[in-house]
Amino acid sequence: MTLLLDEIAIATARLAEAGVESPRADAEVIAAHVHGVRRGELHRVPDAGFDPRFWDEIARREAREPLQHITGLTYFRYTELEVGPGVFVPRPETEVMTGWAIGKLQEMDVADPVVADLGTGSGAIALAIAQEVPRARVHAVEADPLARSWARRNIARCAGYAPHTAGRVELHAADFAAALPGLGGAVDLVISNPPYIPVGAVVPPEVAEYDPAGALWGGTDGLDAIRVIEAVARRLLRPDGLVAVEHGAPQGAAVYWVFAEEQGWRDTRNHKDLAGRDRFVTARYLPA
Ligand SMILES: C[S@@+](CC[C@H](N)C(=O)[O-])C[C@H]1O[C@@H](n2cnc3c(N)ncnc32)[C@H](O)[C@@H]1O
Repeated sequence: MTLLLDEIAIATARLAEAGVESPRADAEVIAAHVHGVRRGELHRVPDAGFDPRFWDEIARREAREPLQHITGLTYFRYTELEVGPGVFVPRPETEVMTGWAIGKLQEMDVADPVVADLGTGSGAIALAIAQEVPRARVHAVEADPLARSWARRNIARCAGYAPHTAGRVELHAADFAAALPGLGGAVDLVISNPPYIPVGAVVPPEVAEYDPAGALWGGTDGLDAIRVIEAVARRLLRPDGLVAVEHGAPQGAAVYWVFAEEQGWRDTRNHKDLAGRDRFVTARYLPA
Protein backbone atom coordinates (compact mmCIF):
# COMPACT_ATOMS: atom_id res chain seq x y z
CA MET A 1 0.00 0.00 0.00
CA THR A 2 1.49 3.35 -0.98
CA LEU A 3 1.19 6.45 1.17
CA LEU A 4 -1.07 8.01 -1.49
CA LEU A 5 -3.66 5.23 -1.18
CA ASP A 6 -3.75 5.73 2.60
CA GLU A 7 -4.19 9.47 2.11
CA ILE A 8 -7.00 8.85 -0.39
CA ALA A 9 -8.83 6.75 2.21
CA ILE A 10 -8.58 9.57 4.78
CA ALA A 11 -9.66 12.15 2.19
CA THR A 12 -12.64 9.97 1.20
CA ALA A 13 -13.88 9.97 4.80
CA ARG A 14 -13.49 13.77 4.99
CA LEU A 15 -15.40 14.33 1.73
CA ALA A 16 -18.17 11.95 2.82
CA GLU A 17 -18.47 13.88 6.08
CA ALA A 18 -18.79 17.12 4.07
CA GLY A 19 -21.74 15.65 2.12
CA VAL A 20 -19.93 15.10 -1.20
CA GLU A 21 -21.96 12.63 -3.28
CA SER A 22 -19.14 10.44 -4.64
CA PRO A 23 -16.30 10.93 -2.13
CA ARG A 24 -14.02 8.05 -3.18
CA ALA A 25 -14.20 8.84 -6.87
CA ASP A 26 -13.61 12.55 -6.22
CA ALA A 27 -10.61 11.87 -3.95
CA GLU A 28 -9.10 9.61 -6.63
CA VAL A 29 -9.68 12.12 -9.44
CA ILE A 30 -8.05 14.87 -7.35
CA ALA A 31 -5.10 12.60 -6.50
CA ALA A 32 -4.63 11.71 -10.16
CA HIS A 33 -4.85 15.39 -11.15
CA VAL A 34 -2.29 16.53 -8.55
CA HIS A 35 0.16 13.71 -9.35
CA GLY A 36 -0.24 13.90 -13.14
CA VAL A 37 -1.25 10.24 -13.55
CA ARG A 38 -4.38 8.38 -14.63
CA ARG A 39 -6.78 7.14 -11.93
CA GLY A 40 -5.76 3.54 -12.68
CA GLU A 41 -2.09 4.38 -12.04
CA LEU A 42 -2.44 5.84 -8.52
CA HIS A 43 -0.93 2.74 -6.86
CA ARG A 44 2.28 3.41 -8.81
CA VAL A 45 2.97 6.80 -7.16
CA PRO A 46 5.92 6.15 -4.81
CA ASP A 47 5.71 7.37 -1.20
CA ALA A 48 8.49 9.85 -1.90
CA GLY A 49 6.43 11.25 -4.77
CA PHE A 50 3.41 12.20 -2.63
CA ASP A 51 2.48 15.82 -3.37
CA PRO A 52 1.00 17.62 -0.34
CA ARG A 53 -0.97 19.93 -2.67
CA PHE A 54 -3.37 16.97 -2.68
CA TRP A 55 -4.66 18.22 0.70
CA ASP A 56 -5.17 21.80 -0.61
CA GLU A 57 -7.40 20.47 -3.37
CA ILE A 58 -9.25 18.10 -1.03
CA ALA A 59 -9.98 21.11 1.21
CA ARG A 60 -11.51 22.93 -1.80
CA ARG A 61 -13.74 19.95 -2.55
CA GLU A 62 -14.61 19.67 1.14
CA ALA A 63 -15.86 23.29 0.88
CA ARG A 64 -18.07 21.96 -1.96
CA GLU A 65 -16.22 23.62 -4.85
CA PRO A 66 -17.15 21.52 -7.92
CA LEU A 67 -14.65 18.81 -8.84
CA GLN A 68 -14.53 20.18 -12.39
CA HIS A 69 -13.42 23.62 -11.15
CA ILE A 70 -10.60 21.99 -9.20
CA THR A 71 -9.32 19.93 -12.12
CA GLY A 72 -10.27 22.69 -14.61
CA LEU A 73 -11.65 20.13 -17.03
CA THR A 74 -14.79 18.21 -17.83
CA TYR A 75 -15.88 15.78 -20.50
CA PHE A 76 -19.04 15.96 -22.62
CA ARG A 77 -19.64 13.12 -25.08
CA TYR A 78 -16.31 13.07 -27.04
CA THR A 79 -15.24 16.60 -26.17
CA GLU A 80 -12.92 17.81 -23.42
CA LEU A 81 -13.89 21.22 -22.05
CA GLU A 82 -12.17 23.75 -19.82
CA VAL A 83 -14.49 25.06 -17.11
CA GLY A 84 -14.16 27.33 -14.09
CA PRO A 85 -15.63 30.41 -12.45
CA GLY A 86 -18.35 32.09 -14.53
CA VAL A 87 -19.46 29.13 -16.64
CA PHE A 88 -22.04 26.38 -16.13
CA VAL A 89 -20.48 22.91 -15.75
CA PRO A 90 -22.06 20.64 -18.43
CA ARG A 91 -24.08 17.74 -17.02
CA PRO A 92 -24.39 14.12 -18.20
CA GLU A 93 -28.18 14.45 -18.66
CA THR A 94 -27.56 17.03 -21.41
CA GLU A 95 -25.49 14.42 -23.26
CA VAL A 96 -28.67 12.39 -23.81
CA MET A 97 -30.52 15.31 -25.45
CA THR A 98 -27.44 16.14 -27.52
CA GLY A 99 -27.26 12.49 -28.63
CA TRP A 100 -30.90 12.68 -29.79
CA ALA A 101 -30.07 15.80 -31.84
CA ILE A 102 -26.95 14.21 -33.33
CA GLY A 103 -28.96 11.14 -34.39
CA LYS A 104 -31.60 13.32 -36.07
CA LEU A 105 -28.97 15.46 -37.85
CA GLN A 106 -27.21 12.34 -39.12
CA GLU A 107 -30.53 11.03 -40.53
CA MET A 108 -31.52 14.38 -42.09
CA ASP A 109 -31.50 14.58 -45.85
CA VAL A 110 -29.69 17.95 -45.77
CA ALA A 111 -26.14 18.45 -47.06
CA ASP A 112 -24.88 20.94 -44.45
CA PRO A 113 -27.39 21.20 -41.61
CA VAL A 114 -27.64 24.52 -39.77
CA VAL A 115 -27.95 24.27 -35.99
CA ALA A 116 -28.61 26.90 -33.28
CA ASP A 117 -27.46 26.18 -29.69
CA LEU A 118 -29.24 28.79 -27.54
CA GLY A 119 -27.33 29.53 -24.30
CA THR A 120 -24.13 27.67 -25.18
CA GLY A 121 -22.23 28.23 -21.89
CA SER A 122 -18.93 26.33 -22.22
CA GLY A 123 -19.86 25.40 -25.81
CA ALA A 124 -20.56 21.79 -24.82
CA ILE A 125 -23.61 21.07 -27.01
CA ALA A 126 -22.35 23.06 -29.99
CA LEU A 127 -18.93 21.37 -29.97
CA ALA A 128 -20.32 17.85 -29.51
CA ILE A 129 -22.58 18.41 -32.54
CA ALA A 130 -19.73 19.86 -34.64
CA GLN A 131 -17.55 16.90 -33.69
CA GLU A 132 -20.12 14.17 -34.38
CA VAL A 133 -21.94 15.69 -37.37
CA PRO A 134 -18.99 16.70 -39.54
CA ARG A 135 -20.98 18.83 -42.03
CA ALA A 136 -23.08 20.73 -39.50
CA ARG A 137 -22.63 24.49 -39.07
CA VAL A 138 -23.42 25.43 -35.49
CA HIS A 139 -24.41 28.89 -34.25
CA ALA A 140 -23.68 29.07 -30.52
CA VAL A 141 -25.52 31.95 -28.80
CA GLU A 142 -24.50 33.21 -25.35
CA ALA A 143 -25.40 36.46 -23.54
CA ASP A 144 -22.89 36.24 -20.69
CA PRO A 145 -19.41 37.60 -21.56
CA LEU A 146 -17.58 35.42 -19.02
CA ALA A 147 -19.31 32.25 -20.25
CA ARG A 148 -18.46 33.32 -23.81
CA SER A 149 -14.78 33.55 -22.94
CA TRP A 150 -14.84 29.88 -21.84
CA ALA A 151 -16.75 28.90 -24.99
CA ARG A 152 -14.21 30.75 -27.17
CA ARG A 153 -11.36 28.91 -25.47
CA ASN A 154 -13.10 25.54 -25.86
CA ILE A 155 -13.89 26.15 -29.54
CA ALA A 156 -10.19 26.90 -30.20
CA ARG A 157 -9.03 23.94 -28.09
CA CYS A 158 -11.42 21.52 -29.82
CA ALA A 159 -10.09 22.60 -33.21
CA GLY A 160 -6.71 21.31 -31.95
CA TYR A 161 -7.77 17.74 -31.06
CA ALA A 162 -10.67 17.54 -33.56
CA PRO A 163 -9.50 19.66 -36.51
CA HIS A 164 -12.68 18.94 -38.50
CA THR A 165 -14.61 21.19 -36.06
CA ALA A 166 -12.47 24.24 -36.98
CA GLY A 167 -14.53 27.10 -38.38
CA ARG A 168 -17.84 25.28 -37.98
CA VAL A 169 -18.93 26.68 -34.59
CA GLU A 170 -19.71 30.39 -34.67
CA LEU A 171 -20.08 32.15 -31.31
CA HIS A 172 -22.68 34.94 -31.13
CA ALA A 173 -22.83 37.51 -28.32
CA ALA A 174 -26.58 37.95 -27.96
CA ASP A 175 -29.70 37.44 -25.91
CA PHE A 176 -31.26 34.35 -27.43
CA ALA A 177 -34.67 36.12 -27.60
CA ALA A 178 -33.39 38.26 -30.49
CA ALA A 179 -30.54 36.08 -31.74
CA LEU A 180 -29.60 35.17 -35.29
CA PRO A 181 -31.92 37.65 -37.08
CA GLY A 182 -30.46 36.70 -40.44
CA LEU A 183 -31.33 33.02 -40.04
CA GLY A 184 -35.14 33.26 -39.75
CA GLY A 185 -36.72 30.17 -41.35
CA ALA A 186 -33.30 28.76 -42.25
CA VAL A 187 -32.28 26.61 -39.25
CA ASP A 188 -32.61 22.82 -39.39
CA LEU A 189 -32.37 22.18 -35.64
CA VAL A 190 -32.63 24.38 -32.54
CA ILE A 191 -31.29 22.97 -29.29
CA SER A 192 -31.13 24.52 -25.84
CA ASN A 193 -30.37 23.72 -22.23
CA PRO A 194 -31.76 26.99 -20.83
CA PRO A 195 -32.04 28.12 -17.20
CA TYR A 196 -35.05 26.22 -15.81
CA ILE A 197 -34.87 26.06 -12.02
CA PRO A 198 -37.87 27.71 -10.31
CA VAL A 199 -36.82 30.67 -8.18
CA GLY A 200 -36.60 29.61 -4.54
CA ALA A 201 -35.81 25.94 -5.24
CA VAL A 202 -33.08 24.48 -3.02
CA VAL A 203 -29.97 23.35 -4.92
CA PRO A 204 -26.66 21.82 -3.70
CA PRO A 205 -23.82 24.23 -2.75
CA GLU A 206 -21.81 23.28 -5.86
CA VAL A 207 -24.70 24.67 -7.96
CA ALA A 208 -25.80 27.63 -5.80
CA GLU A 209 -22.31 29.00 -5.24
CA TYR A 210 -20.44 28.09 -8.43
CA ASP A 211 -22.82 27.82 -11.41
CA PRO A 212 -23.62 31.35 -12.66
CA ALA A 213 -27.07 32.58 -11.59
CA GLY A 214 -27.96 33.37 -15.21
CA ALA A 215 -27.56 29.68 -16.06
CA LEU A 216 -29.93 28.48 -13.36
CA TRP A 217 -33.04 30.45 -12.56
CA GLY A 218 -36.08 30.38 -14.85
CA GLY A 219 -38.63 32.53 -13.00
CA THR A 220 -41.46 31.50 -10.67
CA ASP A 221 -42.33 28.24 -12.43
CA GLY A 222 -38.89 27.79 -14.03
CA LEU A 223 -40.36 28.06 -17.54
CA ASP A 224 -39.62 31.71 -18.45
CA ALA A 225 -36.65 30.93 -20.71
CA ILE A 226 -38.31 27.80 -22.15
CA ARG A 227 -41.26 29.92 -23.33
CA VAL A 228 -38.79 32.25 -25.04
CA ILE A 229 -37.00 29.28 -26.67
CA GLU A 230 -40.33 28.02 -28.04
CA ALA A 231 -41.01 31.38 -29.75
CA VAL A 232 -37.43 31.73 -31.01
CA ALA A 233 -37.44 28.18 -32.41
CA ARG A 234 -40.64 29.01 -34.33
CA ARG A 235 -38.90 32.08 -35.79
CA LEU A 236 -35.67 30.27 -36.73
CA LEU A 237 -36.75 26.84 -37.95
CA ARG A 238 -37.45 26.01 -41.57
CA PRO A 239 -40.60 23.92 -42.19
CA ASP A 240 -39.97 20.37 -40.89
CA GLY A 241 -37.10 21.59 -38.68
CA LEU A 242 -36.64 20.19 -35.17
CA VAL A 243 -36.33 21.61 -31.67
CA ALA A 244 -34.98 20.00 -28.47
CA VAL A 245 -35.15 21.74 -25.11
CA GLU A 246 -33.99 20.47 -21.72
CA HIS A 247 -36.03 20.95 -18.53
CA GLY A 248 -36.19 19.84 -14.90
CA ALA A 249 -37.58 16.39 -14.00
CA PRO A 250 -40.94 17.67 -12.69
CA GLN A 251 -41.52 19.96 -15.71
CA GLY A 252 -42.17 17.33 -18.43
CA ALA A 253 -45.93 17.90 -18.77
CA ALA A 254 -45.67 21.70 -18.50
CA VAL A 255 -42.97 21.93 -21.18
CA TYR A 256 -44.91 19.54 -23.45
CA TRP A 257 -47.82 22.03 -23.36
CA VAL A 258 -45.56 25.07 -23.94
CA PHE A 259 -45.08 23.55 -27.42
CA ALA A 260 -48.32 21.62 -27.98
CA GLU A 261 -50.48 24.71 -27.29
CA GLU A 262 -48.77 26.82 -29.97
CA GLN A 263 -49.55 26.66 -33.68
CA GLY A 264 -47.17 24.81 -35.97
CA TRP A 265 -45.68 22.16 -33.70
CA ARG A 266 -46.09 18.47 -34.60
CA ASP A 267 -44.80 15.26 -32.97
CA THR A 268 -44.23 16.96 -29.58
CA ARG A 269 -42.64 14.34 -27.32
CA ASN A 270 -41.25 13.94 -23.82
CA HIS A 271 -37.89 12.16 -23.41
CA LYS A 272 -36.20 10.73 -20.33
CA ASP A 273 -32.60 10.94 -19.08
CA LEU A 274 -30.45 7.94 -18.11
CA ALA A 275 -32.02 7.91 -14.63
CA GLY A 276 -35.49 7.50 -16.19
CA ARG A 277 -36.65 11.05 -15.32
CA ASP A 278 -38.39 13.39 -17.78
CA ARG A 279 -35.55 15.57 -19.12
CA PHE A 280 -36.25 17.08 -22.54
CA VAL A 281 -38.99 17.83 -25.05
CA THR A 282 -38.66 17.67 -28.81
CA ALA A 283 -41.00 18.84 -31.58
CA ARG A 284 -41.15 19.30 -35.35
CA TYR A 285 -42.12 22.65 -36.88
CA LEU A 286 -44.63 22.27 -39.67
CA PRO A 287 -46.79 25.37 -40.02
CA ALA A 288 -50.14 24.92 -41.84
C1 LIG B 1 -27.96 25.84 -18.07
S1 LIG B 1 -26.70 26.75 -18.88
C2 LIG B 1 -26.35 25.63 -20.22
C3 LIG B 1 -24.99 25.81 -20.83
C4 LIG B 1 -24.62 24.74 -21.86
N1 LIG B 1 -25.52 24.80 -23.01
C5 LIG B 1 -24.67 23.37 -21.23
O1 LIG B 1 -25.62 22.63 -21.48
O2 LIG B 1 -23.74 23.03 -20.49
C6 LIG B 1 -27.66 28.04 -19.67
C7 LIG B 1 -26.82 29.05 -20.44
O3 LIG B 1 -27.73 29.99 -21.08
C8 LIG B 1 -27.20 31.29 -20.95
N2 LIG B 1 -28.35 32.21 -21.03
C9 LIG B 1 -29.33 32.39 -20.12
N3 LIG B 1 -30.24 33.28 -20.56
C10 LIG B 1 -29.82 33.67 -21.79
C11 LIG B 1 -30.33 34.56 -22.77
N4 LIG B 1 -31.48 35.23 -22.57
N5 LIG B 1 -29.67 34.72 -23.92
C12 LIG B 1 -28.51 34.04 -24.15
N6 LIG B 1 -27.95 33.18 -23.25
C13 LIG B 1 -28.61 32.99 -22.10
C14 LIG B 1 -26.54 31.31 -19.59
O4 LIG B 1 -25.59 32.36 -19.49
C15 LIG B 1 -25.91 29.90 -19.57
O5 LIG B 1 -24.61 29.91 -20.12
